[in-house]
Amino acid sequence: MMALQSTLISCWLLLHINDAAGKSDIVRIGAIFDEPSLREEQVFRAAIEAINGNRKLLAHSRLSAIIETVKPGDSMAAYKKACAMLQTGVAAIFAGSTDGGSVQTACDHLEVPLLMARWQNRRPPFAINLHPPPSTLAAAYRSVLQALGWQDLVVVCDSSEGLLRVKELLKDDAFRVTLRDLPRGLDYRELLKAIKLSGIVHILLEVHRSKIHSLLKQAQQIGLMTAYHHYFITSLDLHTVDLEDFKYSGTNTTALRLINLSDGTLQQILRDWSADLDDSGNIFGGEIVSTELALVYDAVQLFARALSDLDKTRAIEVLPLNCSKEQ
Ligand SMILES: *[C@@H]1O[C@H](CO)[C@@H](O)[C@H](O)[C@H]1NC(C)=O
Ligand SMILES: *[C@@H]1O[C@H](CO)[C@@H](O)[C@H](O)[C@H]1NC(C)=O
Ligand SMILES: *[C@@H]1O[C@H](CO)[C@@H](O)[C@H](O)[C@H]1NC(C)=O
Repeated sequence: MMALQSTLISCWLLLHINDAAGKSDIVRIGAIFDEPSLREEQVFRAAIEAINGNRKLLAHSRLSAIIETVKPGDSMAAYKKACAMLQTGVAAIFAGSTDGGSVQTACDHLEVPLLMARWQNRRPPFAINLHPPPSTLAAAYRSVLQALGWQDLVVVCDSSEGLLRVKELLKDDAFRVTLRDLPRGLDYRELLKAIKLSGIVHILLEVHRSKIHSLLKQAQQIGLMTAYHHYFITSLDLHTVDLEDFKYSGTNTTALRLINLSDGTLQQILRDWSADLDDSGNIFGGEIVSTELALVYDAVQLFARALSDLDKTRAIEVLPLNCSKEQ
């Protein structure tokens, strides 16, 4: 998959680069994040530094980051900033903002590679999204539930986006699913009591990771965290949640994880980050990396590999593009 994506990016890049023989070039890569975006920005810069420090990867070029931020959901600003970036000549744009759609529009129009690293229901044509697609996740959920032998289950869901992630399970005849919305606010006890009364012991949580701890805590208070209960948590970030409180409850909890926390490269990166950044506000000190941050890093790596293939044969100069022009 990596190889295919990398080839795709190389092809797109070929559309926009000039042969600039003999020069050592700076290749700009843009990124648009939601404000505040301290972590994403730092990961993005760290990824670029790592590539520039690895002379095996890009022999003739160096990457340079152009980072812009927008208010969450401000698609007009995101579009304008994407166009301004394209005007200066960026080889690709990383859309880290919640409103990737407008950045996508600019990139699609000019056929510039767009990199993404967050869950997306529909995949646009000119984007490489490192987050697993909905169909892959759905298949993974199904095989987990089948391996666990679940038939009756309660699905607790906290967003319409989450509903899209579990909709395949809801349609699947292999499971009898009771769907429950997580109430807004911080008190989930009424819902948890109702689940307890229903007698269903298999509980799937499709909720934001920030809510998992308090949800499980309240489940424990209600008596829904016993050796008879089993939770499947769809968040790919359960490793960032402190589960210490539930260690002795006897409850089984199952989750999927995309990143390998024992991986040598990842551990080295985390060590470098905590050493680099501890003075400037302790951004990563002690913090466990989320899947999305890891994917930001990987997206830059992927892009660099694609660029590296071209870099072997030519020096690279990226042309400025104009959003207002008809292509
Ligand atoms: C929890 O997991 C253990 C070990 O896999 C298993 O023996 C036990 O039956 C499971 N309990 C439930 C309620 O699924
Ligand atoms: C995770 O990384 C460790 C260390 O490199 C390796 O031994 C292990 O096999 C990896 N796990 C998976 C599931 O790839
Ligand atoms: C972009 O294209 C439009 C329409 O052709 C033109 O009016 C505008 O001046 C161009 N902008 C730049 C910065 O070249």
